[in-house]
Amino acid sequence: MVSKEQLNAALARQGLQSVAQANIRDIQTLSKALEQESGEPFIHLEMGVPGLKPSDIAFEAEVEALKGGCAAVYPPNAGIARLHEAASRFVKAFIDVDVAPAHICATTGSMQGTFSVMMTMHHANPAKDTVLFIDPGFNVQKTQAQIIGLKGEHFDVHHCRGQQLLDRMEDILRTGKVCLIVYSNPNNPSWICLSDEELQGIGALATRYDVVVLEDLAYFAMDFRKDLSRPYEAPFQPSVAKYTDNYVMAISGSKAFSYAGQRIGTLAISDRLYVREYAPLGAFGVKSWGDFLSGRVLYTMSSGTAHAPQHALAAMMEAAVEGRFDFVAEIREYGRRAKFMKDVLLRHGFYLVYDNDLGAPLADGFYFTTQYPGMTDIELTAELMRYGIAVFPLESMGSDEQGVRICTSFITDAQFPLFEQRISAFAADHR
Ligand SMILES: Cc1ncc(COP(=O)(O)O)c(C=O)c1O
Repeated sequence: MVSKEQLNAALARQGLQSVAQANIRDIQTLSKALEQESGEPFIHLEMGVPGLKPSDIAFEAEVEALKGGCAAVYPPNAGIARLHEAASRFVKAFIDVDVAPAHICATTGSMQGTFSVMMTMHHANPAKDTVLFIDPGFNVQKTQAQIIGLKGEHFDVHHCRGQQLLDRMEDILRTGKVCLIVYSNPNNPSWICLSDEELQGIGALATRYDVVVLEDLAYFAMDFRKDLSRPYEAPFQPSVAKYTDNYVMAISGSKAFSYAGQRIGTLAISDRLYVREYAPLGAFGVKSWGDFLSGRVLYTMSSGTAHAPQHALAAMMEAAVEGRFDFVAEIREYGRRAKFMKDVLLRHGFYLVYDNDLGAPLADGFYFTTQYPGMTDIELTAELMRYGIAVFPLESMGSDEQGVRICTSFITDAQFPLFEQRISAFAADHR
């Protein structure tokens, strides 16, 4: 449907020599341009943007807060008391971990949350200048470290699970240079989920080497193999917070609550870490890790987070904790779409790149990874673009594997037949 010449011309118009040079926003722009030129709708599987309608609970809470006059006043740097209380209850109900309300910070999404944690580590302990990323991962977090002036170490977790994962980490931690370990669980893009045993090991290493773990729970409760939807009942969202005091959990409103546009998230900071004093922070007139993050980093970056989205997230968390709102039931839809697309791809000669979780099948969720034999990830991205399907190559996500990431959030039921038709045409042409 799009010729090679058309694709190359569109790339040139964007100032790109090949798909290899494109970042995620470039791929979206490219697919939109080709969509217009060909007059055919593309199937957009490239962006990790939530595709579901948020709950009315959120809208009502925002409207009420705005009518109450919140727009005229600055929010507190670390957020409003209602969200602190709600997030603390949420963490207890769905992770079974205690974090005091005073140790919750509101952020303009986890993007700001991870940036502020890295910035805090950078100033708290300047002798440790390296962040260890468990890859593949959300690449912009590496850019955050780079902007702050932190170094990065990383490795691909694919062939390195269980004890091997811990051994690999320990080799790097022994250098004494690592201040922070970062991973997302479930993992963007591979959708592997670290097990409780692995998290226990990571927690033990964090304590032994005095390193903080930044656990990115952007895809909270989305391991749909387990029912993580019941408050105060096992199974709970697995977390390293059970196994060390050196942790920060980033809990975002974006995906679990489909609230990305309002830029709202929380950091749940270990009670011990929040109050821990670091001498170098004295230069900024504060002592504790948490006071530096909220009173210096969040203050100087954005002076807090808008009131109304904080009320929205708090209201959804309150309703979830009280059993009035099953947020997991809403997002299960992503799993259904993943299952459909995986079935189609596997029937047409594709294979899954990250294909198992400690030997068990992966969950169906927000992302999965796939590849077609005999191609590089850049070739596959470019070829699928010609069939009206936009995907994202793994190369830029710290992966050692060849393949592409598929995001399930934008495809609609009405596009299912079109997806099958295009994949089948692709397979027929590439046999
Ligand atoms: C792993 C991961 N962390 C963080 C984010 C960003 O979250 P937020 O929208 O809360 O800034 C994303 C978004 O795609 C993500 O995939």
